[in-house]
Amino acid sequence: MQAVTPRSRMDAVQTPIIPVIGEMIRQTPGTISLGQGVVHYGPPRQAIEAAIDALDDMVTHEYGDGDGAPALVERLEEKLRRENAIDVRRGSRVMVTAGANMAFMHVVFAITVPGDEIILPVPFYFNHDMAIEMAGCRTVRVATHGRYQLDVDALARAITPRTRGIVTVTPNNPSGAVFTEASLRAVNALCRERGIYHIADEVYEYFTYGGVRHFSAASVPGAEAHTITMYSLSKAYGFAGWRIGYFVYPEHLASAMSKSQDTILVCPTMIAQVAAIAALDVGRSYCEPHVRELAEICEIVRGELSSLAPLADVPAADGAFYVLLKVDADRDPLAIAERLIREHRVAVTPGPAFGMDRGCYFRVAYGALQKATVAEGVGRLVTGLTAILRP
Ligand SMILES: Cc1ncc(COP(=O)(O)O)c(C=O)c1O
Repeated sequence: MQAVTPRSRMDAVQTPIIPVIGEMIRQTPGTISLGQGVVHYGPPRQAIEAAIDALDDMVTHEYGDGDGAPALVERLEEKLRRENAIDVRRGSRVMVTAGANMAFMHVVFAITVPGDEIILPVPFYFNHDMAIEMAGCRTVRVATHGRYQLDVDALARAITPRTRGIVTVTPNNPSGAVFTEASLRAVNALCRERGIYHIADEVYEYFTYGGVRHFSAASVPGAEAHTITMYSLSKAYGFAGWRIGYFVYPEHLASAMSKSQDTILVCPTMIAQVAAIAALDVGRSYCEPHVRELAEICEIVRGELSSLAPLADVPAADGAFYVLLKVDADRDPLAIAERLIREHRVAVTPGPAFGMDRGCYFRVAYGALQKATVAEGVGRLVTGLTAILRP
């Protein structure tokens, strides 16, 4: 019998970094993880109680609507109108997915044919790059400038006849930057002029600090025909394991989206949708105390890391729960990340996962831990980097 030659579209896709770092952490007990981008709190009590009650309802155990439970979709439309100034009656649809990652996969399938290009400002969110490559398309990387802000001219220059969309992630994973309203409007207008989609990831919409405001590009009049915006309950409501996200997209993509949803998910998990409705009824006030605490933690992290100057630089971060540390050394960031875990028991995520291939960068995630633990972890990071990088 002839041996199967293992060859697949996945060969071109980067290996997910989180499990790699996770395995090193498991092998080094006592490691403080500043690696994974999760929050340290769970869902509102009301969401858990609603889920418990739903267990006795037969509907919970059946297939549901592909777009999402009508009661949930209705609440999401209302939330979009009130909080994001996005009125779906202007020609958009909402679909509930198993997290914003799945929404992005649907988007790539719906708007591309193999060989097409999607532009990602760098640093990017690694699962976006992976989804694009999995679909047989190509990620086109465009550098950001300043404190990881969008370089609209560079984005415009990167558009080719194969480009199908530009992705913006604001507040940003991994840099913590919040893109300016002006730059988001400019990208949205550029996409409209060039006949491509503006794909906006706003899963950290509530996580901004120091009076900085989040802006939804889809609120711009006329944006509905070429703008797709993705959201998630994972961070705001401590819902990561329930897998509930949603996205707003132009009506003309409805048939393509429903083909993808029907094949990959059929319908979002019914009990998770019941819990999501209850969480939305509690509303964004649920995460506000946590966001205030994260703002304080962000200051602690930046303050501690600033002691690494001139060895390392930490640009200001106004949102999400990440900072991107730039180390002034021509060294392999994965090897340094491994030594940080094994020798100093602190984990961070190396820059190449986010497209930062030149230079030595690390993402520091501070959402998953209590203040004291983050402070201890960042202390170890400072000690570890100083020891490893000292000439
Ligand atoms: C920018 C960004 N988009 C999407 C996601 C995925 O969210 P979800 O859990 O809803 O799939 C994450 C998770 O870390 C993220 O950072």
